[in-house]
Amino acid sequence: MKLAAAFTLLASSALAANRLQAVPFLGAADSLYGTGIEGAGVDKLGNIYAVDFNDDALSAGQIAPSQSLLFQSPNNASLVNGIRFNIDSTGAEEAYIADAITHQVYKLTGRDEATGTFAKADVFCHDEGMLQPNDIAIAPSSGRIFLSGMNWTSDSVVGNGDLWTCDSSGLAKKLGDFMRTNGVEVSPDEKTLYLSEAANTAGSVVSNVVLAFDLDASSGEISNQRTFVDFAKLDNTAATDIDGMRTDVDGNLYVTRNGIGQVAVFTPAGELSAYINATSIDFVSNLEFGGSSGTDLYLIGRCKEDETKGCADVYAGSAVGRAFNDLQKKSPEVPTKPSRCPAKK
Ligand SMILES: *[C@@H]1O[C@H](CO)[C@@H](O)[C@H](O)[C@H]1NC(C)=O
Ligand SMILES: *[C@@H]1O[C@H](CO)[C@@H](O)[C@H](O)[C@H]1NC(C)=O
Ligand SMILES: *[C@@H]1O[C@H](CO)[C@@H](O)[C@H](O)[C@H]1NC(C)=O
Repeated sequence: MKLAAAFTLLASSALAANRLQAVPFLGAADSLYGTGIEGAGVDKLGNIYAVDFNDDALSAGQIAPSQSLLFQSPNNASLVNGIRFNIDSTGAEEAYIADAITHQVYKLTGRDEATGTFAKADVFCHDEGMLQPNDIAIAPSSGRIFLSGMNWTSDSVVGNGDLWTCDSSGLAKKLGDFMRTNGVEVSPDEKTLYLSEAANTAGSVVSNVVLAFDLDASSGEISNQRTFVDFAKLDNTAATDIDGMRTDVDGNLYVTRNGIGQVAVFTPAGELSAYINATSIDFVSNLEFGGSSGTDLYLIGRCKEDETKGCADVYAGSAVGRAFNDLQKKSPEVPTKPSRCPAKK
């Protein structure tokens, strides 16, 4: 009877969670995005971006409120993925876009505020030792970015996933080897880094967990690795991959479940608080908060009704996204006046 009791306990935490529903935002008929839609990012205005614009692995575009091109890689081999916006030290908006095939991250600068387009795209950081990179997280206080990446093999070993960081000058450094890593996010106080880790055995996915680390956002160092969520124990969905992850300003973590059309929401203490169901998408690849108040949570992924297209659903909540909030509060650095007394002549 021990087993039955354990099962009841396991099911009750999942059953107690709020069940919320996202509604269709961009359907297959109107979508300019392909099946590889991924890497949701938000800018200062709350516009949402994603990759595979024009069904093109080289291109990223704006997805909400309307569709338009943001960036096309100059390299034909590219597979663009994660997107993050930031405010630089002069107050200018910049964007980072990961390229999983060329093992580098582009930095977009020279934004035209009227059109939203960027004049310049430079390679910001690059290392052939990176497995991909896949998704990007950012610590705005230091401008440091964090990169996940994976190598899909039928039997996962440590080293089939990695975690890298690039400092604000673009210097890349590996932080660790893992099983397959994918979702990556920094908490609003920048003291915790979240990283998803999945494992395969004999070609089947057998494990999906979210790891948490203590983070030093300045040096990029991580420590005190622990398991924040184990989906095998939480709700028996170990075989469903975790994909993009984002936090809100209260530190709640939103985790996509790529395959079951869901986002699982966790408190900073790791308690499940809600499931948000997608409507148009089973394979939710990523998510981000946007809209004018930063409280609309967009879910993106391959459309249910047409698997050649990328769709978006939206959940209009009350929590403000962490990325959106950081873009509002970061103001240009005021040049510090010399504190020394003028030297006597
Ligand atoms: C969300 O999905 C779950 C699992 O498929 C289902 O049990 C639940 O009823 C759905 N909730 C809503 C609000 O549709
Ligand atoms: C990319 O491919 C197109 C045609 O497929 C070709 O015209 C173009 O020169 C290529 N560009 C580069 C940078 O290789
Ligand atoms: C990916 O895994 C395969 C199979 O283990 C291995 O042969 C290959 O070298 C790995 N690739 C990278 C970039 O580590």
